[in-house]
Amino acid sequence: AHQRVFDRFKRPLSDLRISVTDKCNFRCRYCMPEEIFAADYPFLPQEKLLTFEEITRLVRIFATLGVKKIRITGGEPLLRKELPTLIKMIRQVEGIEDIALTTNGSLLPKYAQALKSAGLNRVNVSLDSLDDERFGKMNGRGFKVRDVLKGIEAAEKAGLGIKINMVVQRGVNDQDILPMARYFRKKGHVLRFIEFMDVGNANGWRLEHVVPSREIVQMINAEMPLEPVEPNYYGEVASRYRYKGTKQEIGFISSVTEAFCSTCTRARLSAEGTLYTCLFATAGTDLRTPLRQGETDEQLRTRIVNVWEKRQDRYSEERLKNTNVLKGKKVEMYHIGG
Ligand code: GTP
Ligand code: 5AD
Ligand code: SF4
Ligand code: SF4
Repeated sequence: AHQRVFDRFKRPLSDLRISVTDKCNFRCRYCMPEEIFAADYPFLPQEKLLTFEEITRLVRIFATLGVKKIRITGGEPLLRKELPTLIKMIRQVEGIEDIALTTNGSLLPKYAQALKSAGLNRVNVSLDSLDDERFGKMNGRGFKVRDVLKGIEAAEKAGLGIKINMVVQRGVNDQDILPMARYFRKKGHVLRFIEFMDVGNANGWRLEHVVPSREIVQMINAEMPLEPVEPNYYGEVASRYRYKGTKQEIGFISSVTEAFCSTCTRARLSAEGTLYTCLFATAGTDLRTPLRQGETDEQLRTRIVNVWEKRQDRYSEERLKNTNVLKGKKVEMYHIGG
């Protein structure tokens, strides 16, 4: 039975972001600072992670509710063993049109080809600087820019769609904005600038650290003229622009200065099987327990419908009015996958 579900603000459910691990080989200061996520940090034990069969079963149920787009996230999703097998399983679910992966890129040289063969459509690769010293500091583990560029090349060679994500923080990597724009324009990849968000509780977020997209547009436009492009799909997170006279695009994800909650169609599933209806949620709904207790598809489906129909989240819009909302009890980014 196919049915669409809508929340309290009439937003349909149409994408699902699935975190497949809470671990990461990077320690980005804004996400998993080394002091907190040290060697003895209690990451989820294997038995608490949803199995591929459990994830695929949930995807099948979500697909009957109108979900067409699946994004695999982490932590770093490529640390999950045999991830291409999961992609293959999700690819077979009727109704799923787009499968994408958000990654730090370091393991793409190893997996890009297998991911493509399994049916992955595209990757969004995070890269915050082209300067090794700054990048090494930001990723907290001394990874080199080249480690990520090699991953991007591997994805390109495999024929995957590619977007580059750059989180911009004032005073940290704002000097990299123009070099990144020039570099990826030349390479022909879509670069998206992301406003630094107050996700989680560990990243010491302050409004002064946000560089508003408007400022970045002006900066780039002064050197390389831009023109706006219509959204690709309803609720697209990035505002898109094109370098005038070319087909080359760039994007801006302005969740701080121009919240996009009114068209937010995303549900999030954590690696341990908790369903969240907002990136900034303070609580979610456990699906793993009922799943393992033998509930039927229909029962699980009813749970999901009930959660979505009650949904009233619009955190980013609320923050526009008050930057202190919810301080200190949000779910962490590495747990929910961004
Ligand atoms: P596309 O399907 O390629 O448009 O991907 P995407 O931009 O939706 O996903 P990606 O994982 O690349 O996320 C890019 C940035 O957008 C990250 O910083 C995410 O945390 C942020 N983002 C994605 N979805 C949401 C959302 O629903 N709310 C907020 N506030 N930020 C989001
Ligand atoms: N603000 C904005 N984007 C963030 N990301 C991680 N933490 C933050 C934050 N605090 C980005 C990652 C990746 C995507 C999933 O989210 O760099 O590109
Ligand atoms: Fe890892 Fe991505 Fe978090 Fe960086 S932002 S620590 S790469 S999950
Ligand atoms: Fe959606 Fe919450 Fe992000 Fe708003 S803040 S766009 S409701 S995930």
